[in-house]
Amino acid sequence: MYLYDTFTGLDENYSEEVERNVIGNAYDNIENWHENVVERFSRFSRVKVIKGVVPEVLLEETPAQIAFLHLDLNAAAAEATALEVLFDRISVGGIVLMDDYGRSENFVLHMSLSKWMNDHGHTVLEMLTGQEMVIKRR
Ligand SMILES: C[S@@+](CC[C@H](N)C(=O)[O-])C[C@H]1O[C@@H](n2cnc3c(N)ncnc32)[C@H](O)[C@@H]1O
Repeated sequence: MYLYDTFTGLDENYSEEVERNVIGNAYDNIENWHENVVERFSRFSRVKVIKGVVPEVLLEETPAQIAFLHLDLNAAAAEATALEVLFDRISVGGIVLMDDYGRSENFVLHMSLSKWMNDHGHTVLEMLTGQEMVIKRR
C-alpha cells in the first residue's frame, strides 16, 4: 500500500480557492502529522507513507501495477492529474474509488471527475456513501 499526502493540506497549485474554503483550516496546526502516520503504519512492512504533492510526488515513487486506487484529496485538479499518471497502471478489473464525489459542496470535484471518466469511456457508479466507483475495463 502506497499512501500519499502533503501532510500540510491542499496544495495551491492543484486546488481551487472554493475547495480550500470548504476545507477551511481543518489541516492547520496538526502536530507531528506525518511522524504520527509513519509511526501508525510502522509495523506493516508493505505500507509506504510518502510525503509530497500529488501529482508531482507520483513521478518519484509509484507501483508499476495497481489493483485499488483510492483518491480522497478534496481537490479536483490533484485527483484528475493523479488519474492521468496512474490510470494506465490499474489492472483490468481493478477499482478506482473516489471519495466525496456525490457531495454537493464538492461540485468542482464532481464535474471534473465526471468529465475525466466520460472522456476516457468509463462508467461511474455513484454510491450512497457519496463516493464514486469505477471498474477498469479493457
Ligand atoms: C479528506 S483528507 C483525507 C485523508 C485520508 N484519506 C484520511 O481519510 O484520513 C484529504 C487529504 O488530502 C491531502 N491533500 C490534498 N491535496 C493534496 C495534494 N495535491 N497532494 C497530496 N495530498 C493532498 C490533505 O493534506 C488531506 O490530508
